[in-house]
Amino acid sequence: MEIKKVGVLGCGLMGSGIAQVCASAGYTTYVREIDPKLIDKGFAGIEKSLEKFVEKGKITAQQKTEIRSKLIGTTSLDSLKDCDLIIEVVVEDIKIKNEMFSYLDKICPEHTIFASNTSSLTIAEMAAATSRPDKVVGLHFFNPVPLMKLVEVVRSIRTSKETFDKTFAFGKSLGKEPIATKDNSGFVVNLLLVPYLIGAIRAVENGVASIEDIDKGMMLGCGYPMGPLTLLDFVGIDTTYKIAEIMFAEYKTTEYACPPLLKKMHLAGLHGRKSGKGFYDYTDPKNPVPMDLGI
Ligand code: 3HC
Repeated sequence: MEIKKVGVLGCGLMGSGIAQVCASAGYTTYVREIDPKLIDKGFAGIEKSLEKFVEKGKITAQQKTEIRSKLIGTTSLDSLKDCDLIIEVVVEDIKIKNEMFSYLDKICPEHTIFASNTSSLTIAEMAAATSRPDKVVGLHFFNPVPLMKLVEVVRSIRTSKETFDKTFAFGKSLGKEPIATKDNSGFVVNLLLVPYLIGAIRAVENGVASIEDIDKGMMLGCGYPMGPLTLLDFVGIDTTYKIAEIMFAEYKTTEYACPPLLKKMHLAGLHGRKSGKGFYDYTDPKNPVPMDLGI
């Protein structure tokens, strides 16, 4: 069965980006959120991103209108019942993900593929919540989704080759470069990225250098587009905290152990760009200022 209709569960930072690239590739895309205000917020982000592409001549104003017409916001899970592929992009909580997949499993046709954008949970666990474990797969995107070329396609011990191949081809159809990975927590990118980010937080804790200089070091010394602390604010301190907790529970090695500073920032609501403050203060978003974290 050809993929024509796509469902996206969640319209936050990642969900809206994923919905945008699906609609841009011509798929009718249903985006489900719990509150219409969250849909409006996510769609406003999509509008801004598409406008940027029009300004840069990457798409025409007419194409932008066509893309927008392919996006349908909804608060009902039932609206996704005719989708050929559903991508969940909800919080990293296995209970919530499993409840959604379990519900959709009962109302969607047999051929519907369930994909998860999880960055650290295992796909096999989500597959077990459905009666179609062969059709459950990982599809992990990177922030900002409209710009980042990579998508990780994850085959669990229960995913069929047909589902994997179809999802891999879908990733390509979005204009992404898919890579194939096993269903280990963190897949390829977070397996390597999370210890690096945790290392940068420990460097702040230990007073190795200032926030700005740690970032500058990795940008100018290694050619990274963003320093690790800027990247942490970009990805979200809350998100990174959750990922580190899940990966530590899985591997029980110190490289994934959550540094006390990460936990404190998470609890203090210093979640990075999304909350206006993290390692930097974004009161003036164009001019972030390093935070005084009392270290
Ligand atoms: N849509 C459209 N345009 C966008 C955009 C979006 N979503 N986001 C940024 N842009 C535009 C900017 O507005 C800017 O436009 P301008 O040139 O007209 O000012 C242009 O893209 C370039 O952006 P910037 O000037 O801000 O800076 P950069 O050249 O550094 O590019 C970047 C931005 C692509 C985000 C680059 O900094 C980068 O690659 N950073 C690293 C991101 C990264 O590592 N992401 C992965 C995170 S890990 C993850 O997501 C996994 C998860 O599981 C944790």
